[in-house]
Amino acid sequence: IQISDNWPGYSLDLFTYPQHYYGDLEYVLIPHGIIVDRTERLAKDIMQDIGDNDIVVLCVLKGGYKFCADLVEHIKNLSRNSERFISMKVDFVRLKSYHNDQSMQDMQIMGGDDLSKLTGKVSLLWFLLTVFFMFCKDIVGTGRTMKALLNNIEKYKPKMIKVASLLVKRTSRPDGYRPDYYGFEIPDLFVVGYALDYNEHFRDLNHICVINDHGKAKYRV
Ligand code: IMP
Ligand code: MG
Repeated sequence: IQISDNWPGYSLDLFTYPQHYYGDLEYVLIPHGIIVDRTERLAKDIMQDIGDNDIVVLCVLKGGYKFCADLVEHIKNLSRNSERFISMKVDFVRLKSYHNDQSMQDMQIMGGDDLSKLTGKVSLLWFLLTVFFMFCKDIVGTGRTMKALLNNIEKYKPKMIKVASLLVKRTSRPDGYRPDYYGFEIPDLFVVGYALDYNEHFRDLNHICVINDHGKAKYRV
C-alpha cells in the first residue's frame, strides 16, 4: 500500500486517542484498524513462503513490538486453521539510533540469544539450513539499521532470512533498502504511534500519526 505525498490523512477528531497527546499531533496517517488488517495479509503471504520450515521471529525492539506481536498472532491463527502447523520461536534484539527526529551515526545492537540457545537439539548447521529467520521491525527509514542487523546474522549463513517491516519511508535515496514484506510505503515524514516513538513518547498511541511542531518541541531532549 502506497501512501502518496499529498495524502492529507484523517482528522484526529474522527478517532479516539489519549488525552495527554491532545495538541501534539497533526493528523492520523494510518488508523489502527487498517494496520491490523494489513498485518493479517502479510501473515498470509509469509505463511505461503515458509513452506514446511520452522520459523524464528526476531523482533527488533522497541518500535517493532506491536507489529511483531500482531504478526505472530495472525501467523498462529492461520497456522492453527490449516493443515500445516508451524513451529515458531521468538527472540528479541534491541537497537537505538534516533535522537529527537534525527538518525544518529553510531548504532548499538543489544540483546538476542546466542544462536546455539535457539537450536535446541538439532545441529547449528541443520538449523541454519532449515529455519526461516524473520526480522520484524517497525519502519525502514534510511535502511542503515536493517543493514547493520543483517550483517550481524548473515555471518552465520542461514539459508532463509527475510525482513518484514510495517512501514517503509520513501526517502530521496535511490539505493534505498527494501524489506521482503512491508505493510505501507509512506512519505518521508516522522511518524509516531503503534509502538513508534519520539524520544520514548507516543508508543501508547494506537494509530500511526504525524507529530506537529508543538509535539516535537514539547518532547524534545
Ligand atoms: P533507519 O536506520 O533510518 O532505517 O531507521 C531505523 C529506526 O529508526 C527504526 O527502526 C525506527 O526505530 C527509527 N525511525 C525511523 N524513522 C522513524 C519515524 O518516522 N518515527 C519513529 N521512529 C523512526
Ligand atoms: Mg525510536
